[in-house]
Amino acid sequence: MPTTKLNYMKYSIAFLFVLISITTNAQTTLVRGPYLQSLTDKSIKIMWRTSDSTQAVVKIGYAPNALNRTIIDTHNIKDHIVLVDGLSAREKYYYSVGTDDVNVLAGGDEQHHFFAAPSVGDTTGFRFWVIGDFGKANSRQVRVRNWFQTYVKDNKVDAWLWLGDNAYQDGKDVEYQEKVFGRTYGYDSILRFLPSYPIPGNHDYNSVNQSKPAEKHTGPYYNNVEVFRNAEMGGIPSKTEAYYSYDFGNVHFMALNSELYTYSIFWDLGSPYKTWIENDIKSTDKKFIVAYIHQPPYSKGSHDTDDFYQIFMQNTREKIVPILEKYGVDVVLSGHSHVYERSYLINGHYARSSYFNKEKVVVDSTDGNPDNGNVYTKYTYGPLKGKGTVYSVIGNSGNYEEHNGKMHPVFTTKYDDTGDNGAGSMILEVKGNELTGTYYTLDGVLFDKFRIVKQDSSTISGIKQNKNIKSLKVYPNPFSEQVTLEVSLDKAAVLDVYIQNLTGELVADKIAFGRANKGVNLIEINNIGDLPAGNYIITIAQDGIFTSKQVVKL
Ligand SMILES: [Fe+2]
Repeated sequence: MPTTKLNYMKYSIAFLFVLISITTNAQTTLVRGPYLQSLTDKSIKIMWRTSDSTQAVVKIGYAPNALNRTIIDTHNIKDHIVLVDGLSAREKYYYSVGTDDVNVLAGGDEQHHFFAAPSVGDTTGFRFWVIGDFGKANSRQVRVRNWFQTYVKDNKVDAWLWLGDNAYQDGKDVEYQEKVFGRTYGYDSILRFLPSYPIPGNHDYNSVNQSKPAEKHTGPYYNNVEVFRNAEMGGIPSKTEAYYSYDFGNVHFMALNSELYTYSIFWDLGSPYKTWIENDIKSTDKKFIVAYIHQPPYSKGSHDTDDFYQIFMQNTREKIVPILEKYGVDVVLSGHSHVYERSYLINGHYARSSYFNKEKVVVDSTDGNPDNGNVYTKYTYGPLKGKGTVYSVIGNSGNYEEHNGKMHPVFTTKYDDTGDNGAGSMILEVKGNELTGTYYTLDGVLFDKFRIVKQDSSTISGIKQNKNIKSLKVYPNPFSEQVTLEVSLDKAAVLDVYIQNLTGELVADKIAFGRANKGVNLIEINNIGDLPAGNYIITIAQDGIFTSKQVVKL
Protein backbone atom coordinates (compact mmCIF):
# COMPACT_ATOMS: atom_id res chain seq x y z
CA MET A 1 0.00 0.00 0.00
CA PRO A 2 1.46 3.39 -1.02
CA THR A 3 2.67 5.47 1.89
CA THR A 4 0.40 8.41 1.15
CA LYS A 5 -2.74 6.28 1.30
CA LEU A 6 -1.59 4.72 4.58
CA ASN A 7 -1.14 8.16 6.11
CA TYR A 8 -4.54 9.20 4.84
CA MET A 9 -6.13 6.21 6.59
CA LYS A 10 -4.23 6.97 9.77
CA TYR A 11 -5.48 10.55 9.80
CA SER A 12 -8.99 9.39 9.00
CA ILE A 13 -8.97 6.95 11.90
CA ALA A 14 -7.51 9.60 14.21
CA PHE A 15 -10.15 12.09 13.10
CA LEU A 16 -12.83 9.49 13.69
CA PHE A 17 -11.61 8.95 17.27
CA VAL A 18 -11.64 12.69 17.92
CA LEU A 19 -15.14 12.92 16.49
CA ILE A 20 -16.37 10.03 18.65
CA SER A 21 -14.78 11.58 21.69
CA ILE A 22 -16.36 14.98 21.13
CA THR A 23 -19.73 13.43 20.33
CA THR A 24 -19.65 11.32 23.49
CA ASN A 25 -18.70 14.25 25.70
CA ALA A 26 -21.27 16.50 24.10
CA GLN A 27 -23.95 13.97 24.96
CA THR A 28 -22.87 13.53 28.54
CA THR A 29 -25.19 15.37 30.88
CA LEU A 30 -25.23 15.95 34.60
CA VAL A 31 -27.84 13.74 36.29
CA ARG A 32 -27.25 15.00 39.83
CA GLY A 33 -24.96 17.34 41.70
CA PRO A 34 -22.30 18.33 42.09
CA TYR A 35 -22.68 17.97 45.84
CA LEU A 36 -20.23 18.20 48.72
CA GLN A 37 -19.46 15.57 51.37
CA SER A 38 -16.91 14.81 54.09
CA LEU A 39 -15.74 18.40 54.48
CA THR A 40 -12.69 18.78 56.74
CA ASP A 41 -10.26 21.61 57.36
CA LYS A 42 -7.97 19.97 54.78
CA SER A 43 -10.17 18.15 52.27
CA ILE A 44 -13.58 17.62 50.70
CA LYS A 45 -15.28 15.02 48.52
CA ILE A 46 -17.04 16.41 45.43
CA MET A 47 -19.66 14.04 44.01
CA TRP A 48 -21.89 13.98 40.94
CA ARG A 49 -23.64 11.57 38.56
CA THR A 50 -23.34 11.64 34.78
CA SER A 51 -25.69 10.25 32.16
CA ASP A 52 -23.00 7.90 30.84
CA SER A 53 -19.65 6.62 32.03
CA THR A 54 -16.91 9.22 31.90
CA GLN A 55 -13.73 10.23 33.62
CA ALA A 56 -13.98 12.79 36.40
CA VAL A 57 -12.19 16.10 36.31
CA VAL A 58 -12.36 18.65 39.14
CA LYS A 59 -10.81 22.08 38.78
CA ILE A 60 -10.39 24.19 41.87
CA GLY A 61 -9.04 27.61 42.77
CA TYR A 62 -9.53 30.84 44.68
CA ALA A 63 -11.75 32.51 42.06
CA PRO A 64 -14.34 31.22 39.59
CA ASN A 65 -12.17 32.25 36.66
CA ALA A 66 -8.93 31.01 38.19
CA LEU A 67 -9.43 27.29 38.77
CA ASN A 68 -5.74 26.60 38.60
CA ARG A 69 -5.57 23.13 40.09
CA THR A 70 -6.88 20.04 38.28
CA ILE A 71 -7.68 16.63 39.77
CA ILE A 72 -8.44 13.75 37.42
CA ASP A 73 -9.97 10.36 38.13
CA THR A 74 -9.51 8.17 35.06
CA HIS A 75 -12.12 5.58 36.00
CA ASN A 76 -14.97 5.54 33.48
CA ILE A 77 -18.04 5.56 35.73
CA LYS A 78 -21.29 7.45 36.30
CA ASP A 79 -21.16 8.10 40.04
CA HIS A 80 -18.12 10.25 40.68
CA ILE A 81 -16.39 10.87 44.00
CA VAL A 82 -13.33 13.08 43.84
CA LEU A 83 -11.29 13.75 46.94
CA VAL A 84 -9.77 17.22 46.98
CA ASP A 85 -7.06 17.54 49.61
CA GLY A 86 -4.45 20.14 50.46
CA LEU A 87 -7.03 22.74 51.52
CA SER A 88 -6.41 25.53 54.03
CA ALA A 89 -8.80 25.89 56.97
CA ARG A 90 -11.61 28.42 56.46
CA GLU A 91 -10.42 29.33 52.95
CA LYS A 92 -13.05 29.88 50.26
CA TYR A 93 -12.68 27.73 47.15
CA TYR A 94 -14.42 27.71 43.79
CA TYR A 95 -14.62 24.64 41.58
CA SER A 96 -15.95 23.01 38.46
CA VAL A 97 -16.62 19.40 37.47
CA GLY A 98 -16.30 17.91 34.02
CA THR A 99 -15.55 14.92 31.87
CA ASP A 100 -12.10 16.00 30.69
CA ASP A 101 -9.86 19.03 30.56
CA VAL A 102 -12.16 20.90 28.20
CA ASN A 103 -15.73 19.77 28.84
CA VAL A 104 -17.16 21.34 32.00
CA LEU A 105 -20.49 20.01 33.25
CA ALA A 106 -20.98 22.57 36.05
CA GLY A 107 -19.10 25.20 38.00
CA GLY A 108 -16.60 27.91 37.30
CA ASP A 109 -19.12 30.42 38.63
CA GLU A 110 -20.04 32.14 41.92
CA GLN A 111 -22.46 29.44 43.03
CA HIS A 112 -20.04 26.53 42.95
CA HIS A 113 -17.91 27.17 46.00
CA PHE A 114 -17.34 26.04 49.59
CA PHE A 115 -15.44 27.05 52.68
CA ALA A 116 -12.93 24.62 54.17
CA ALA A 117 -13.85 23.75 57.76
CA PRO A 118 -12.20 25.62 60.63
CA SER A 119 -9.21 23.97 62.25
CA VAL A 120 -10.09 21.55 65.03
CA GLY A 121 -10.36 23.61 68.22
CA ASP A 122 -10.91 26.92 66.38
CA THR A 123 -13.30 29.05 68.49
CA THR A 124 -14.04 31.71 65.86
CA GLY A 125 -17.50 30.31 65.21
CA PHE A 126 -19.68 28.90 62.47
CA ARG A 127 -23.27 28.22 61.42
CA PHE A 128 -25.01 25.00 60.38
CA TRP A 129 -28.39 24.65 58.71
CA VAL A 130 -30.39 21.80 60.28
CA ILE A 131 -33.32 20.06 58.57
CA GLY A 132 -35.25 16.87 59.31
CA ASP A 133 -37.86 14.72 57.58
CA PHE A 134 -37.68 16.87 54.49
CA GLY A 135 -37.76 14.64 51.40
CA LYS A 136 -41.47 14.85 50.64
CA ALA A 137 -41.47 16.72 47.32
CA ASN A 138 -44.16 19.10 48.58
CA SER A 139 -44.62 22.85 48.82
CA ARG A 140 -43.40 22.93 52.44
CA GLN A 141 -40.06 21.41 51.51
CA VAL A 142 -39.73 23.98 48.74
CA ARG A 143 -40.68 26.93 50.97
CA VAL A 144 -38.19 25.94 53.69
CA ARG A 145 -35.52 25.60 51.02
CA ASN A 146 -36.41 28.94 49.44
CA TRP A 147 -36.30 30.66 52.82
CA PHE A 148 -32.79 29.29 53.38
CA GLN A 149 -31.64 30.52 49.99
CA THR A 150 -32.64 34.02 51.07
CA TYR A 151 -31.11 33.63 54.53
CA VAL A 152 -27.76 32.43 53.23
CA LYS A 153 -27.34 35.51 51.03
CA ASP A 154 -26.73 37.62 54.13
CA ASN A 155 -25.47 34.99 56.57
CA LYS A 156 -22.48 32.75 56.00
CA VAL A 157 -23.45 29.13 56.65
CA ASP A 158 -20.67 26.56 56.78
CA ALA A 159 -22.39 23.20 56.59
CA TRP A 160 -25.64 21.30 56.83
CA LEU A 161 -27.10 18.56 59.02
CA TRP A 162 -29.67 16.10 57.64
CA LEU A 163 -31.59 14.50 60.49
CA GLY A 164 -32.93 11.52 58.53
CA ASP A 165 -35.99 10.57 56.48
CA ASN A 166 -34.14 12.37 53.75
CA ALA A 167 -36.15 10.79 50.89
CA TYR A 168 -39.64 9.43 51.40
CA GLN A 169 -41.21 6.90 51.19
CA ASP A 170 -38.52 4.27 51.16
CA GLY A 171 -35.16 5.99 50.63
CA LYS A 172 -34.87 4.56 47.11
CA ASP A 173 -32.34 6.01 44.71
CA VAL A 174 -35.11 7.37 42.48
CA GLU A 175 -36.60 9.08 45.54
CA TYR A 176 -33.25 10.62 46.45
CA GLN A 177 -32.99 11.78 42.85
CA GLU A 178 -36.22 13.78 43.04
CA LYS A 179 -36.45 14.77 46.70
CA VAL A 180 -32.82 15.47 47.58
CA PHE A 181 -30.91 16.05 44.34
CA GLY A 182 -33.80 17.35 42.20
CA ARG A 183 -34.28 20.91 41.02
CA THR A 184 -38.02 21.29 41.57
CA TYR A 185 -38.38 19.85 45.07
CA GLY A 186 -34.81 18.99 46.06
CA TYR A 187 -31.72 20.98 46.90
CA ASP A 188 -29.84 21.07 43.60
CA SER A 189 -29.25 24.81 44.01
CA ILE A 190 -27.89 24.41 47.56
CA LEU A 191 -25.93 21.16 47.33
CA ARG A 192 -23.36 22.84 45.09
CA PHE A 193 -22.14 25.16 47.87
CA LEU A 194 -23.21 23.65 51.20
CA PRO A 195 -21.48 20.46 52.43
CA SER A 196 -23.66 18.12 54.48
CA TYR A 197 -23.10 15.67 57.32
CA PRO A 198 -26.12 13.33 57.04
CA ILE A 199 -27.69 10.59 59.10
CA PRO A 200 -30.37 8.12 57.97
CA GLY A 201 -33.96 7.79 59.19
CA ASN A 202 -36.35 4.86 59.25
CA HIS A 203 -37.68 5.71 55.78
CA ASP A 204 -34.14 5.70 54.37
CA TYR A 205 -33.66 2.37 56.10
CA ASN A 206 -36.61 0.84 54.21
CA SER A 207 -34.12 0.36 51.35
CA VAL A 208 -31.08 -0.57 53.43
CA ASN A 209 -29.89 -4.16 53.36
CA GLN A 210 -29.71 -5.13 57.02
CA SER A 211 -28.79 -8.78 56.56
CA LYS A 212 -25.30 -8.07 57.85
CA PRO A 213 -24.28 -6.35 61.09
CA ALA A 214 -24.98 -2.63 61.33
CA GLU A 215 -21.41 -1.75 60.51
CA LYS A 216 -21.83 -3.31 57.04
CA HIS A 217 -25.24 -1.96 56.04
CA THR A 218 -25.65 -1.06 52.37
CA GLY A 219 -28.28 0.69 50.27
CA PRO A 220 -29.09 3.89 48.38
CA TYR A 221 -28.50 6.09 51.45
CA TYR A 222 -25.02 4.67 51.86
CA ASN A 223 -24.31 4.96 48.13
CA ASN A 224 -25.37 8.60 48.08
CA VAL A 225 -23.43 9.88 51.07
CA GLU A 226 -19.77 9.87 52.00
CA VAL A 227 -19.19 10.29 55.72
CA PHE A 228 -16.24 9.81 58.02
CA ARG A 229 -15.15 6.30 58.91
CA ASN A 230 -11.69 7.02 60.24
CA ALA A 231 -11.99 10.15 62.35
CA GLU A 232 -10.77 12.29 59.46
CA MET A 233 -11.60 15.43 61.47
CA GLY A 234 -11.43 14.33 65.10
CA GLY A 235 -13.31 11.83 67.24
CA ILE A 236 -12.81 8.08 67.50
CA PRO A 237 -12.88 6.11 64.21
CA SER A 238 -16.21 4.30 63.81
CA LYS A 239 -14.92 2.22 60.86
CA THR A 240 -18.42 2.42 59.38
CA GLU A 241 -20.72 4.93 57.71
CA ALA A 242 -23.62 3.82 59.93
CA TYR A 243 -22.48 6.28 62.63
CA TYR A 244 -19.53 8.64 62.95
CA SER A 245 -18.21 11.76 64.62
CA TYR A 246 -16.12 14.82 63.86
CA ASP A 247 -14.89 18.07 65.37
CA PHE A 248 -16.09 21.22 63.65
CA GLY A 249 -14.14 24.06 65.22
CA ASN A 250 -14.55 23.66 68.95
CA VAL A 251 -17.65 21.45 68.75
CA HIS A 252 -17.70 17.67 68.78
CA PHE A 253 -20.52 16.34 66.59
CA MET A 254 -21.80 12.77 67.00
CA ALA A 255 -23.84 11.50 64.02
CA LEU A 256 -25.80 8.60 65.52
CA ASN A 257 -28.16 6.01 64.07
CA SER A 258 -31.52 5.21 65.64
CA GLU A 259 -32.27 2.41 63.17
CA LEU A 260 -30.00 -0.18 64.78
CA TYR A 261 -32.51 -1.38 67.33
CA THR A 262 -32.33 -4.96 66.11
CA TYR A 263 -28.92 -5.20 67.66
CA SER A 264 -29.72 -3.35 70.86
CA ILE A 265 -31.05 -6.44 72.64
CA PHE A 266 -27.43 -7.41 72.96
CA TRP A 267 -26.26 -3.92 73.87
CA ASP A 268 -25.97 -4.51 77.57
CA LEU A 269 -23.61 -7.35 76.74
CA GLY A 270 -21.63 -4.93 74.62
CA SER A 271 -22.14 -3.74 71.06
CA PRO A 272 -19.75 -1.99 68.66
CA TYR A 273 -22.19 0.93 68.37
CA LYS A 274 -22.75 1.50 72.09
CA THR A 275 -19.08 0.92 72.88
CA TRP A 276 -18.06 3.41 70.21
CA ILE A 277 -20.50 6.05 71.53
CA GLU A 278 -19.03 5.88 75.01
CA ASN A 279 -15.41 5.78 73.83
CA ASP A 280 -16.03 8.65 71.46
CA ILE A 281 -17.82 11.02 73.82
CA LYS A 282 -15.52 10.48 76.74
CA SER A 283 -12.49 11.17 74.56
CA THR A 284 -13.48 14.62 73.39
CA ASP A 285 -12.10 17.79 74.93
CA LYS A 286 -14.09 20.19 72.77
CA LYS A 287 -16.10 23.04 74.28
CA PHE A 288 -19.48 21.73 73.08
CA ILE A 289 -20.87 18.29 72.25
CA VAL A 290 -23.81 18.04 69.82
CA ALA A 291 -25.35 14.64 69.05
CA TYR A 292 -27.94 14.01 66.35
CA ILE A 293 -30.09 10.92 65.93
CA HIS A 294 -33.23 10.49 63.83
CA GLN A 295 -35.68 9.05 66.37
CA PRO A 296 -35.93 11.34 69.41
CA PRO A 297 -35.91 10.29 73.07
CA TYR A 298 -38.82 12.67 73.83
CA SER A 299 -41.71 13.72 71.61
CA LYS A 300 -45.44 14.18 71.43
CA GLY A 301 -45.83 15.04 67.78
CA SER A 302 -46.62 12.60 65.01
CA HIS A 303 -44.90 10.07 67.26
CA ASP A 304 -45.45 9.82 71.00
CA THR A 305 -42.47 8.48 72.93
CA ASP A 306 -44.88 7.23 75.61
CA ASP A 307 -46.54 4.73 73.27
CA PHE A 308 -45.47 1.21 74.27
CA TYR A 309 -44.66 0.22 70.70
CA GLN A 310 -42.18 3.09 70.15
CA ILE A 311 -39.25 0.84 70.96
CA PHE A 312 -36.70 2.68 68.82
CA MET A 313 -37.26 5.94 70.67
CA GLN A 314 -37.44 4.15 74.01
CA ASN A 315 -34.16 2.53 73.11
CA THR A 316 -32.53 5.89 72.40
CA ARG A 317 -33.84 7.30 75.67
CA GLU A 318 -32.89 4.34 77.86
CA LYS A 319 -29.68 3.11 76.25
CA ILE A 320 -28.04 6.11 74.58
CA VAL A 321 -29.15 9.26 76.40
CA PRO A 322 -27.68 8.16 79.79
CA ILE A 323 -24.26 7.75 78.14
CA LEU A 324 -24.49 11.09 76.37
CA GLU A 325 -25.56 12.90 79.54
CA LYS A 326 -22.90 11.19 81.65
CA TYR A 327 -20.24 12.85 79.52
CA GLY A 328 -21.92 16.26 79.26
CA VAL A 329 -23.65 16.32 75.87
CA ASP A 330 -25.00 19.85 75.33
CA VAL A 331 -27.56 19.40 72.56
CA VAL A 332 -29.37 16.41 71.04
CA LEU A 333 -31.11 17.06 67.70
CA SER A 334 -33.64 14.68 66.16
CA GLY A 335 -36.36 14.42 63.54
CA HIS A 336 -38.95 11.66 62.97
CA SER A 337 -41.80 13.41 64.77
CA HIS A 338 -43.16 15.95 62.32
CA VAL A 339 -43.14 18.97 64.57
CA TYR A 340 -40.67 21.33 66.20
CA GLU A 341 -40.14 20.68 69.92
CA ARG A 342 -37.47 22.05 72.26
CA SER A 343 -36.69 21.18 75.86
CA TYR A 344 -35.61 23.05 78.94
CA LEU A 345 -32.05 22.41 80.11
CA ILE A 346 -32.63 18.93 81.58
CA ASN A 347 -30.75 15.96 83.00
CA GLY A 348 -31.67 12.42 84.00
CA HIS A 349 -35.12 11.68 82.57
CA TYR A 350 -35.04 8.19 81.04
CA ALA A 351 -38.55 6.92 81.76
CA ARG A 352 -41.97 7.62 80.27
CA SER A 353 -43.35 11.12 80.80
CA SER A 354 -45.70 10.01 83.59
CA TYR A 355 -42.56 9.54 85.72
CA PHE A 356 -41.26 13.02 84.91
CA ASN A 357 -40.01 14.78 88.06
CA LYS A 358 -39.48 18.45 87.33
CA GLU A 359 -37.56 19.13 90.54
CA LYS A 360 -35.01 16.43 89.76
CA VAL A 361 -34.82 16.71 86.00
CA VAL A 362 -35.01 20.38 85.05
CA VAL A 363 -31.65 22.07 85.54
CA ASP A 364 -32.92 25.45 84.30
CA SER A 365 -36.65 26.10 84.01
CA THR A 366 -36.41 29.28 81.95
CA ASP A 367 -36.88 29.18 78.20
CA GLY A 368 -33.15 29.84 77.69
CA ASN A 369 -34.05 32.40 75.06
CA PRO A 370 -31.63 35.36 75.04
CA ASP A 371 -34.30 37.51 73.39
CA ASN A 372 -36.31 37.06 76.61
CA GLY A 373 -33.29 37.72 78.82
CA ASN A 374 -32.55 34.04 79.50
CA VAL A 375 -29.66 31.73 78.67
CA TYR A 376 -28.70 28.28 79.91
CA THR A 377 -25.42 28.20 81.83
CA LYS A 378 -23.33 25.05 81.81
CA TYR A 379 -20.32 24.74 84.04
CA THR A 380 -16.98 23.32 82.99
CA TYR A 381 -15.97 22.77 86.64
CA GLY A 382 -17.46 22.14 90.06
CA PRO A 383 -20.43 20.04 91.16
CA LEU A 384 -22.60 21.13 88.21
CA LYS A 385 -19.90 20.32 85.65
CA GLY A 386 -21.40 19.26 82.30
CA LYS A 387 -24.92 18.94 83.67
CA GLY A 388 -27.85 19.83 81.46
CA THR A 389 -28.87 19.09 77.88
CA VAL A 390 -31.23 20.72 75.39
CA TYR A 391 -33.24 18.27 73.26
CA SER A 392 -34.86 19.46 70.06
CA VAL A 393 -36.99 17.74 67.44
CA ILE A 394 -36.85 19.32 63.99
CA GLY A 395 -38.99 16.86 62.06
CA ASN A 396 -41.00 19.23 59.91
CA SER A 397 -38.69 20.57 57.20
CA GLY A 398 -41.04 19.07 54.60
CA ASN A 399 -43.22 16.60 56.40
CA TYR A 400 -45.61 18.04 58.97
CA GLU A 401 -48.22 17.08 61.53
CA GLU A 402 -51.60 18.46 62.43
CA HIS A 403 -51.78 20.03 65.87
CA ASN A 404 -52.55 17.39 68.53
CA GLY A 405 -52.62 19.63 71.61
CA LYS A 406 -50.00 17.60 73.49
CA MET A 407 -46.75 18.80 75.04
CA HIS A 408 -44.13 16.48 76.54
CA PRO A 409 -43.18 17.82 80.00
CA VAL A 410 -39.48 18.14 79.13
CA PHE A 411 -40.35 20.71 76.47
CA THR A 412 -40.71 24.45 76.84
CA THR A 413 -42.06 25.06 73.34
CA LYS A 414 -43.54 23.32 70.33
CA TYR A 415 -44.36 24.42 66.79
CA ASP A 416 -46.97 22.37 65.03
CA ASP A 417 -48.89 24.93 63.09
CA THR A 418 -51.49 23.26 60.98
CA GLY A 419 -51.90 23.36 57.26
CA ASP A 420 -49.52 24.87 54.81
CA ASN A 421 -47.39 26.72 57.34
CA GLY A 422 -46.42 23.75 59.53
CA ALA A 423 -42.76 23.49 58.57
CA GLY A 424 -39.40 25.05 59.33
CA SER A 425 -35.72 24.48 60.08
CA MET A 426 -32.98 25.44 62.50
CA ILE A 427 -29.82 27.50 62.33
CA LEU A 428 -27.21 26.26 64.81
CA GLU A 429 -24.60 28.88 65.59
CA VAL A 430 -21.52 28.48 67.79
CA LYS A 431 -19.15 31.24 68.74
CA GLY A 432 -16.64 31.09 71.58
CA ASN A 433 -18.46 29.99 74.72
CA GLU A 434 -21.92 30.38 73.21
CA LEU A 435 -24.09 27.92 71.28
CA THR A 436 -27.38 29.23 69.88
CA GLY A 437 -30.17 27.34 68.14
CA THR A 438 -32.79 29.37 66.25
CA TYR A 439 -35.87 27.85 64.67
CA TYR A 440 -37.38 29.66 61.70
CA THR A 441 -40.69 28.76 60.13
CA LEU A 442 -40.86 28.18 56.39
CA ASP A 443 -41.60 31.86 55.91
CA GLY A 444 -38.62 32.95 57.98
CA VAL A 445 -40.54 33.86 61.13
CA LEU A 446 -38.28 33.43 64.14
CA PHE A 447 -40.31 31.05 66.31
CA ASP A 448 -37.79 29.95 68.96
CA LYS A 449 -34.26 30.54 70.14
CA PHE A 450 -32.13 29.02 72.89
CA ARG A 451 -28.58 29.69 74.00
CA ILE A 452 -26.17 27.64 76.07
CA VAL A 453 -23.23 29.50 77.59
CA LYS A 454 -20.25 27.61 78.93
CA GLN A 455 -19.16 28.98 82.31
CA ASP A 456 -15.40 28.65 82.55
CA SER A 457 -13.37 29.09 85.68
CA SER A 458 -12.87 32.72 86.85
CA THR A 459 -15.31 34.14 84.34
CA ILE A 460 -19.03 34.65 84.40
CA SER A 461 -20.85 34.54 81.13
CA GLY A 462 -24.37 34.14 79.99
CA ILE A 463 -27.16 35.80 81.98
CA LYS A 464 -29.39 38.85 81.96
CA GLN A 465 -31.25 41.13 84.38
CA ASN A 466 -30.60 41.41 88.12
CA LYS A 467 -32.46 42.30 91.28
CA ASN A 468 -30.94 40.86 94.42
CA ILE A 469 -28.63 38.22 95.78
CA LYS A 470 -30.35 35.63 97.94
CA SER A 471 -27.17 34.17 99.40
CA LEU A 472 -23.41 34.19 98.98
CA LYS A 473 -21.09 31.42 100.16
CA VAL A 474 -17.31 31.56 99.84
CA TYR A 475 -15.18 28.43 100.10
CA PRO A 476 -12.63 27.37 101.09
CA ASN A 477 -12.04 30.13 103.58
CA PRO A 478 -9.18 30.62 104.32
CA PHE A 479 -7.94 29.94 100.79
CA SER A 480 -4.55 29.80 99.17
CA GLU A 481 -4.72 29.66 95.36
CA GLN A 482 -8.37 29.31 94.48
CA VAL A 483 -11.71 30.29 95.98
CA THR A 484 -15.26 29.52 94.89
CA LEU A 485 -18.19 31.89 95.28
CA GLU A 486 -21.60 30.27 95.36
CA VAL A 487 -24.17 32.94 94.71
CA SER A 488 -27.89 32.39 94.57
CA LEU A 489 -29.96 34.86 92.58
CA ASP A 490 -33.67 35.53 92.54
CA LYS A 491 -33.29 36.68 89.00
CA ALA A 492 -30.47 36.55 86.49
CA ALA A 493 -28.06 39.49 86.55
CA VAL A 494 -24.75 40.92 85.51
CA LEU A 495 -22.24 40.46 88.32
CA ASP A 496 -18.98 42.21 89.06
CA VAL A 497 -16.58 40.69 91.58
CA TYR A 498 -13.78 42.66 93.24
CA ILE A 499 -11.58 42.55 96.35
CA GLN A 500 -10.82 45.23 98.91
CA ASN A 501 -8.54 45.20 101.91
CA LEU A 502 -9.97 45.92 105.37
CA THR A 503 -9.40 49.65 104.97
CA GLY A 504 -11.65 49.67 101.89
CA GLU A 505 -8.85 50.04 99.37
CA LEU A 506 -9.49 48.28 96.06
CA VAL A 507 -6.78 45.66 95.55
CA ALA A 508 -8.27 43.56 92.70
CA ASP A 509 -10.87 44.92 90.31
CA LYS A 510 -13.13 42.88 88.04
CA ILE A 511 -11.61 39.54 88.95
CA ALA A 512 -14.78 38.13 87.47
CA PHE A 513 -17.38 39.91 85.40
CA GLY A 514 -20.32 38.66 83.43
CA ARG A 515 -23.86 37.42 83.42
CA ALA A 516 -25.25 34.90 85.91
CA ASN A 517 -28.52 32.98 85.90
CA LYS A 518 -31.45 32.72 88.24
CA GLY A 519 -30.69 30.13 90.90
CA VAL A 520 -27.30 28.87 92.02
CA ASN A 521 -24.21 30.16 90.18
CA LEU A 522 -20.68 29.00 90.87
CA ILE A 523 -17.89 31.50 90.28
CA GLU A 524 -14.47 29.94 90.57
CA ILE A 525 -11.74 32.53 91.15
CA ASN A 526 -8.27 31.26 90.36
CA ASN A 527 -6.56 34.40 89.14
CA ILE A 528 -5.60 35.94 92.50
CA GLY A 529 -2.62 33.76 93.39
CA ASP A 530 -0.40 36.86 93.61
CA LEU A 531 -2.51 38.48 96.30
CA PRO A 532 -0.42 38.86 99.48
CA ALA A 533 -1.52 36.84 102.51
CA GLY A 534 -4.00 38.69 104.70
CA ASN A 535 -7.62 39.60 105.38
CA TYR A 536 -9.80 40.83 102.54
CA ILE A 537 -13.38 41.61 101.58
CA ILE A 538 -14.74 39.91 98.47
CA THR A 539 -17.69 41.81 97.04
CA ILE A 540 -20.22 40.89 94.40
CA ALA A 541 -21.84 43.94 92.90
CA GLN A 542 -25.06 43.69 91.02
CA ASP A 543 -26.63 46.86 89.64
CA GLY A 544 -25.45 48.90 92.60
CA ILE A 545 -26.34 46.24 95.19
CA PHE A 546 -23.36 44.89 97.09
CA THR A 547 -22.91 41.63 98.96
CA SER A 548 -19.60 41.00 100.69
CA LYS A 549 -17.79 38.31 102.62
CA GLN A 550 -14.59 38.57 104.63
CA VAL A 551 -11.98 36.06 103.50
CA VAL A 552 -8.47 35.13 104.51
CA LYS A 553 -5.72 34.60 101.96
CA LEU A 554 -3.06 32.22 103.26
FE1 LIG B 1 -38.80 8.90 60.77
